[in-house]
Amino acid sequence: RTRVLTGITTSGTPHLGNYAGAIRPAIVASRDAGTESFYFLADLHALIKVTDPARVQRSTLEIAATWLACGLEPEKVWFYRQSDIPEIPELTWLLTCVAGKGILNRAHAYKAAVDRNRAESEDDDAGVTAGLFMYPVLMAADILAFNANKVPVGRDQVQHIEMARDFGQRFNHLYGEHFTLPEAVIEAQVATLPGLDGRKMSKSYDNTIPLFAPPATLRKLIMSIVTDSTEPGVPKDPDSSNLFALYQAFASEDETAAMRRAFADGIAWGDAKQSLFERIDAEVAPMRERYEALIAKPAEIEAILRDGARRVRETHVTPFVTRLREAVGLRDLS
Ligand code: TYM
Repeated sequence: RTRVLTGITTSGTPHLGNYAGAIRPAIVASRDAGTESFYFLADLHALIKVTDPARVQRSTLEIAATWLACGLEPEKVWFYRQSDIPEIPELTWLLTCVAGKGILNRAHAYKAAVDRNRAESEDDDAGVTAGLFMYPVLMAADILAFNANKVPVGRDQVQHIEMARDFGQRFNHLYGEHFTLPEAVIEAQVATLPGLDGRKMSKSYDNTIPLFAPPATLRKLIMSIVTDSTEPGVPKDPDSSNLFALYQAFASEDETAAMRRAFADGIAWGDAKQSLFERIDAEVAPMRERYEALIAKPAEIEAILRDGARRVRETHVTPFVTRLREAVGLRDLS
């Protein structure tokens, strides 16, 4: 069976970009009998950005409840929290020892930090932790630990998956064919979902629309999406519009074609926003209700996560990492 794996960092409240870019395609893939799915909460990655323990815990609960509310079936997929699997940091070290430093120098997040420092004529690495630098190696361990074939992600994660391939290949070359090389799967409609200001929807830009915002908040946020000053009645270009990109990510092909015509006919921005709100709310409302019920029962969510980690370690990770330890010349701990 094809192995599909993806993770979400527990650094905030899940937003429409996480949903359309990763959660929705992952849930669809998990219903295919030909796939085995691995979905997890990347809380070790969260520590790179968040130093408030309460926030990491709250986000873990919210993201777990979100997966479940969106239709993940914990009996049918592997569903776990990254930090419940001690073999992940262990594998991170094995991969660290084969990862080229030059490759890590080119990782987008690290490079952006260095470029910002240079622009402000600071020391290149001012304020940069080794955790940020090593981020792609930890992510490679997440993926390679399960020999995942396909990784559904938004465009911003593609470089990390290419790096995972590179580290896996290098390890295979040195120690024998242990790792399957993963491929990114990107939904063309939502490769990068724009946020309120038109830039990529991202926690770091503070431009997100929370997936389960109450309807009144959702509507208010959608009404605040930045548009140009084209008047009603004047044709608008759908292909350069964030509003249209958002609509397309949530609408059927027919609805999208109709909205394209409405743009050509000069639909008023307020009316286009109202349609977008109605489309998103229609998709999200039933999941929002399940989410509210789930988030009220943290102990149940905790039990699902612990059970998931226990089973996935037993079945997959522990035997595999034992083999890898042996391959590099370390003792068998079992
Ligand atoms: P994170 O938590 O930033 O985002 C989770 C997923 O949501 C996607 N995404 C978007 N997709 C489309 N448009 C957007 N505006 C948008 N914003 C976020 C991301 O691409 C991602 O798929 N490093 C990862 C988490 C991770 C992981 C992994 C993913 C850790 N280990 C192993 C896959 C495999 C991250 O920080 O995603």
